[in-house]
Amino acid sequence: MPKSVYVLNGPNLNLLGQREPEIYGRDTLDEIRLRVEKHLKSLGFNCEFRQTNSESELIDWIQEAGQNGDGLIINAAAYSHTSIAIRDALGAVSKPVIEVHLSNIFAREEYRHHSFVSEVAAGVICGLGPQGYLLAADALSELIA
Ligand code: DQA
Repeated sequence: MPKSVYVLNGPNLNLLGQREPEIYGRDTLDEIRLRVEKHLKSLGFNCEFRQTNSESELIDWIQEAGQNGDGLIINAAAYSHTSIAIRDALGAVSKPVIEVHLSNIFAREEYRHHSFVSEVAAGVICGLGPQGYLLAADALSELIA
């Protein structure tokens, strides 16, 4: 059975394409999903790509990824900067985790410079737009192998 990678997206990322396009670009999350699924498939992985606006649902999915997945790519969006609960859920995952942000969070407001997710991520990719998810997939496939 192919190994599987969870790609979890947090609040407001359902609005990509219309939401502050000068910061987040014009690609919709659905377009990004198709690219990521195709890329992961080419690397030999199944892809479980999801988005939620709910912190509790994101925590449930992180736990599910820890049980059923072989690796996790996460853009926790604003929860990255606020949620110790999400950090703790990720801390309980024994598979590799890569954190992604579309924008360069270090070139933005100071409250975005700290991410609780980074403490428990094997690596962090930010500022490269949707390409960041593909690079995260490449990195994960090395870490999983
Ligand atoms: C984001 C950056 C976060 O600071 C912000 O709250 C988001 C998106 C990004 O992908 O650039 O919602 O995670």
